[in-house]
Amino acid sequence: MIESERQKNDAVGHLSRRACWAGGQSLATMLMAKSLAQPELVSLAAAFIDGETLPVEPTRSALDVIWSNPQKAKAALQYGTTIGYLPLRRILLERMLQSDGQTSRQTGLSVDQVIITAGSNSALHLLGDTILNPGDIVLCGAPTYFVLLGTLANLGARAVGVDMDEEGMVPESVEQCLDYFEQNSELDRVKAIYVTSYFDNPTGVTLSADRRRRLVEIAKRRSKQTKIRIIEDTAYRELRYWGDDIPSMRSFDKEGDTVAIAGSFSKSFSPGIRVGWIVLPRDLVGPVLTQKGNIDFGSPNFSQHLMCSVLEEGLFDKHLETIRAQYAKKLDAMVEAVEESLDPIGGVRWIRPDGGLYLWLSVPGHLDASHGGRLFDRAVEEGVLYVPGDHCYPAEYRNIPKNTLRLSFGVPPCEEIRCGIAALGRALKQVH
Ligand SMILES: Cc1ncc(COP(=O)(O)O)c(C=O)c1O
Repeated sequence: MIESERQKNDAVGHLSRRACWAGGQSLATMLMAKSLAQPELVSLAAAFIDGETLPVEPTRSALDVIWSNPQKAKAALQYGTTIGYLPLRRILLERMLQSDGQTSRQTGLSVDQVIITAGSNSALHLLGDTILNPGDIVLCGAPTYFVLLGTLANLGARAVGVDMDEEGMVPESVEQCLDYFEQNSELDRVKAIYVTSYFDNPTGVTLSADRRRRLVEIAKRRSKQTKIRIIEDTAYRELRYWGDDIPSMRSFDKEGDTVAIAGSFSKSFSPGIRVGWIVLPRDLVGPVLTQKGNIDFGSPNFSQHLMCSVLEEGLFDKHLETIRAQYAKKLDAMVEAVEESLDPIGGVRWIRPDGGLYLWLSVPGHLDASHGGRLFDRAVEEGVLYVPGDHCYPAEYRNIPKNTLRLSFGVPPCEEIRCGIAALGRALKQVH
């Protein structure tokens, strides 16, 4: 909603305070308007997945299995439960424990702590809605997943930025932030630390194993009157193209009372099926389920049965092989194009990820890459769209840089990626 409209509605009392707090979708709207006005633009902005490899055949096969058994088909077409389809929750828990090299006996985790949602964004909103009061604080990377910033604004919470580097969130910066809030008698307002632990959106970085352990330890040690939770977002965990998987932050939470871990099939299989999940510390399960019951009394049951069949038939892991190979090629194409077209310009830096869908770039400090800045406008004229990095910073951060960009390689084919980066190179040269 545009600002003037929101103020008008607020003034006459049409909207709730929450609706007025909602940040709106100004970035997405702006990017979409640009794409519509200039359809020939190469979009390195959209966070969508590759359209070519969408799993049409695997989904058909999984559906055939359900449809060939009338009992199964009817169960899928019926209402489900608030917590979600038990066989799917069992598989998700098993897979997570297996990836982390743990057993449920070691962790004390049970399937009652796994809740299915309609995508992981709704899981993040649901958890926030359950633990945050207006004015509560969530520490986020600077930069972070910008949609979450809208979610937090909607809940009236404060998003406070902490430093990020090539290893992910910087523990010392988290400690400094907590010191600051303690000195200002606000430590009890800090409710959570939000971390995308694998192939972060927007930076592409993966939090190192050592930092996983340290951040969990900090959250536990600094919890006084208020428990500080870690919200671990693993939306991109399965999209690894090189190197070995590393255990989740949750696996370092020995007491099981600190980390809530959210996941999704949106990037690894299909966002249209819209299945996500969250594994919660035991004390949060009841309150989150009560809240969820009030909202939807269960996410789409049909989608859950479908995803369960995809997993049971071995179709998911097979599909992962296909998309990993495809995205690895696209990431290579983007990095090669950046080396060829942008590196020679000077002062351009980037972090090469081992997976995910994003490349985070910074240009020399005197250049303005933000929306309305010279680089953005020149880039659009040259034929390429990117996400201005300043949109990804929490409002409460000491120094929001304007010289960063997020590039996505999920959607365009390799040739388009090369054209898009060449266009960005031309724009950069003009404003340098
Ligand atoms: C870091 C991160 N978390 C969560 C999501 C939400 O995904 P979904 O709601 O489709 O599961 C996204 C989507 O782009 C994301 O980038």
